[in-house]
Amino acid sequence: MDLSTLNDACFLNFLKLTHQLTGITIAPNRHSMLQGRLRKRVVSLSLNSYEEYYQYVINTPSEKTVFVDLVTTNETYFFRTPRVWDYIEKSFLPNWHNDNHGKTLMVWSAAASSGEEAHSLAVLCQSFKEKNPGFNYQIIGTDVSQEMIGLCQKGLYTGKSIEVFRKNRPESFVKYMKSMGNDVYQLTPEARNRIRFLQHNLFKPLAINERFDLVLLRNVLIYFTGPDQETVLKMASPRLSDQGVLIIGESESLSHIQTDFQLSEPLVYKKVPLNKKTHGAA
Ligand SMILES: C[S@@+](CC[C@H](N)C(=O)[O-])C[C@H]1O[C@@H](n2cnc3c(N)ncnc32)[C@H](O)[C@@H]1O
Repeated sequence: MDLSTLNDACFLNFLKLTHQLTGITIAPNRHSMLQGRLRKRVVSLSLNSYEEYYQYVINTPSEKTVFVDLVTTNETYFFRTPRVWDYIEKSFLPNWHNDNHGKTLMVWSAAASSGEEAHSLAVLCQSFKEKNPGFNYQIIGTDVSQEMIGLCQKGLYTGKSIEVFRKNRPESFVKYMKSMGNDVYQLTPEARNRIRFLQHNLFKPLAINERFDLVLLRNVLIYFTGPDQETVLKMASPRLSDQGVLIIGESESLSHIQTDFQLSEPLVYKKVPLNKKTHGAA
C-alpha cells in the first residue's frame, strides 16, 4: 500500500465528486489537505490506493455519506461573530415581536455544522421568551453532513465550542447550559426542544414547507464559486418570508453576485426584488 501520493488525475476526480455531492469547490492548492483527510479512511478500509477508494466511493452509496463528512469543514462555536448576536438580540427579536404578535418566529440555521449556531439562537430566543411571554419560536438546523447532524442531535458541547459563550455571556451560560459532567454541557430541555435538525444539501429543495423569518447562512458560501452561491441563494430565497432577514458570515459578501437580497446592515440582508435593487447597495 502506497498512500504517500495522491496523483493529479485522482485528485481531480475527488474534486469533481466533492463538487457533485456538496457544491464545494476545493482549490487546487488544497491537495495535501484533501490527501490528509482521505488517508485515514483509505487505511481504515484496508484499501491499497486512493484510486481504489475513489472507485469504492462512487460504487457505494453509504460511502458517499462518509466522503461528504470527510470533505466538509465544520469549524463553529457558540456565539461566533458577536456583532451578529447583538443584532439578533437587541434589534431583530424586539422588532419582529412588535410586528408579529401571536405568531411563531421561524429560524433556519442553514449550514449548522455541529449545532452551536442553532443552539445560540435558542439561548437568545428562550431568554427573550422569558421576558415576553407571548413570544414563541422554532429553530431548524440543517447541514449536508450526516455526521454533523448526529452531533447536533446529541447536543453535547465542551472546550473551544463554548469558550466565547462562557466568556461573553456568563449569566446565560450558567442559566441555559446544564452540566453533564467532565466539563460537557447541554442546553436546557425547554430551549432544546424547540430545535429540530435534519440533513439537507443547500443545492436541493428543503424537505419541509416552512417559510422562515430569519435565516443564518454563515461561513458556508465561501466554499462555493460565485455561480454556485447564486444557485444556493435562489434556492433559499423563497424559504425566507417577505420581511425576512438573511445573515451571512463575516468573510462573505453578496456584492459580486446577482440575488434578490440587499444589504441592510453589516452581514444582514433583506429581500428585495432584483428590479428594485439599489445600485451598488449590497
Ligand atoms: C464552517 S461550517 C459553518 C457553521 C456555522 N454556520 C458557523 O458559521 O459557525 C460550514 C458548514 O457548511 C456545511 N456545508 C457545506 N456544503 C454544504 C451544502 N451544500 N449544504 C449544506 N451544508 C453544507 C458543512 O458541512 C459545514 O458543517
